[in-house]
Amino acid sequence: MTIRAVRGVHDILPGEGEKWRRVERIARDVFDSYGYEEIRLPIFERTELFARTIGEATDIVQKEMYTFQDRGGDSVTLRPEATAGLLRAYIEHGLFVHPKPIKLYTMGPMFRYERPQAGRYRQFHQLDVEALGDEHASLDAEMIAMLVEFFRRLDLAQRLQVEINSLGDEKPECRPRYRTELVRYLRANADRLCEECRERIERNPLRVLDCKKPECRRVLDRAPALGDFLCADCAAHFGKTREYLEATGVPHVVSPRLVRGLDYYMRTTFELTTTELGAQNAVAGGGRYDGLIKLLGGPPDPGIGFAVGVERVVQLLPDEGPEAWEGRRVGVFLIPLGEEPLKRLLPIANQLRSKGLVVEVGHGERKLGRELERANKLPQAKRLGVLQAVILGPDELARGEAIVRELKSGTQRTVPLSGLVDELLALGGRA
Ligand code: HAM
Repeated sequence: MTIRAVRGVHDILPGEGEKWRRVERIARDVFDSYGYEEIRLPIFERTELFARTIGEATDIVQKEMYTFQDRGGDSVTLRPEATAGLLRAYIEHGLFVHPKPIKLYTMGPMFRYERPQAGRYRQFHQLDVEALGDEHASLDAEMIAMLVEFFRRLDLAQRLQVEINSLGDEKPECRPRYRTELVRYLRANADRLCEECRERIERNPLRVLDCKKPECRRVLDRAPALGDFLCADCAAHFGKTREYLEATGVPHVVSPRLVRGLDYYMRTTFELTTTELGAQNAVAGGGRYDGLIKLLGGPPDPGIGFAVGVERVVQLLPDEGPEAWEGRRVGVFLIPLGEEPLKRLLPIANQLRSKGLVVEVGHGERKLGRELERANKLPQAKRLGVLQAVILGPDELARGEAIVRELKSGTQRTVPLSGLVDELLALGGRA
């Protein structure tokens, strides 16, 4: 019996990889341009880090973590998200001594034991961005604008909606007052809610707002709105965030029921959503988490961040033509016919590669027809449609020449071996 991949994980096969590279390259370009620096983090951490950060009452911590004991008996967990580990590193390495905000990003796989479905995996990838140590609303707006700019460069911005909300803070007159009101309302209407929501009323009442079931929606449409309960400071912060977003020219809608699946949020929260991916409609989400760094034993630094779900972004991208290979030089296929021609071509291949061309070399034992057939079937040839072949047999070698053949048209000409590298570089490998 052959062994198959674990349920809910997936391979990124050759060919698909090009879209992933593009997403990651544009992410780096955009994040760099806003002054963010990359940080690379472990994919597992002590279990208690996630319990403390994401929240004991959340679905992630209660049901979705890959937790195991290592051989030394410590409980460790494959990261379900990147924020917790990044803050751990921020505190552990004293990064907070630098001028603030400290702007960091990271990318890589995350793990959640969720029910697999289209757009939802058990191993998936995020681009995660965090700005630490600054609570000004202009940072909230800049962060959302940067996220939109990333999607604009991918030509996806017009297919997404920016939803924002404020979750207030933990001052008694702000979110706690709302929570009391909400619980009172939900208890009074509990018999009309689904079982999961009924159970959530005491455990995590704000999450009830997120339920998509029609019977719950009917109740929730009349529930008190958090926006009406924000304290003066939080209302002002949200107002400013919106003003700066408008000044930057970022269209957005306020979604009063936008609550997030992690407990650490306060004030600004946001999601980028699409109608094109079915139930899994969020391609990115984030928000502010002032107080969390202190809770983890660090300084009282505020923070804000987001994560993009790379699988969902890749799914939205159209299949690309050759222009997507921008920056990569078109390939050259070197065909030696025999041992001596092979030895002559080997250093030439390396020279061309060092100049950025993609070079493939035959091993000298196949017939010319077979080699040309193979050259035409190479992935570069298929995707790019243009490729140069260089044919070098014993006769050409004796004359100090090689044949350069454009594969698509079949036109060929003779070039002196001494000028071959320059000739191919001048072509840029192109037809
Ligand atoms: P999140 O909303 O849980 O936030 O995840 C962010 C994005 O990751 C989602 O919008 C979605 O695109 C993608 N995602 C989540 N779960 C899956 C899955 N099972 N399969 C595929 N894609 C998925 C966070 O993780 C926060 N740490 C974001 C953040 C950073 N907040 C502040 N800083």
